[in-house]
Amino acid sequence: MEIPQHVAIIMDGNGRWAKDKGLPRIKGHKAGVARVEEIVEVAANSGVKHLSLYAFSTENWRRPESEVSVIMCLLRLYLRLYTNSLHRKGIRFHFLGDIEGMPEGIRADALALEIATAGENGMVFHLAVNYGSRMELVNAIKKCISDGLEVADINETTVEERLLTKGVPPVDLLIRTSGEQRISNFLLWQCAYAEFYFADCHWPDFNKAEFQKAMESFASRERRFGGI
Ligand code: IPE
Ligand code: IPE
Ligand code: MG
Repeated sequence: MEIPQHVAIIMDGNGRWAKDKGLPRIKGHKAGVARVEEIVEVAANSGVKHLSLYAFSTENWRRPESEVSVIMCLLRLYLRLYTNSLHRKGIRFHFLGDIEGMPEGIRADALALEIATAGENGMVFHLAVNYGSRMELVNAIKKCISDGLEVADINETTVEERLLTKGVPPVDLLIRTSGEQRISNFLLWQCAYAEFYFADCHWPDFNKAEFQKAMESFASRERRFGGI
């Protein structure tokens, strides 16, 4: 079976999952966080080399402060809790997003987790937090200018080298849960030739079997990259 090298997931539907159960949205975020470890493990065991999970977008700051602060607390808890388990599985952690715009505590914990797992050579787990593709592209263009590049030097390689995903292969499979069929500012450049898979279930219900269904769907696709 053809295995995607890079899988990206838009983990959507925590709020609706909770609403369906008559619970506050916060409970949905808790259930969503609990799902992450299982999916990281199944992806690594399936032979995926890079897994990018979209946890919080640059636009998600527009949500009520009470919800944002719960998400930040859960994030911090997670970053601390799973250091050992990532280590055991040989998984390298990468914070994918504008880390400067994060609260100090999270910044420190994320960097600590990156450092603690820097020597691992299994799958790379990119956690997208305070991530927005437009911001990433604007920053890459700014870097081209501040690095003194001439117009003639600006090409796909020089732009790519200035993205937050520098050195990471493009996304092969993009999964979004919860039935929504949009990209919501996630990895626009990197998804140029990605295969899309939309799961109807909400993120807290996206289990190992659901992940495998997405992988099987990917294996059945015919990719052309503009050729015939
Ligand atoms: C995804 O679930 C998690 C984040 C964006 C932080 P949502 O919170 O977007 O859940 P819905 O889409 O409102 O159901
Ligand atoms: C995308 O989900 C961001 C994450 C899953 C982190 P949203 O719930 O924020 O996206 P929209 O607003 O429905 O497009
Ligand atoms: Mg949503």
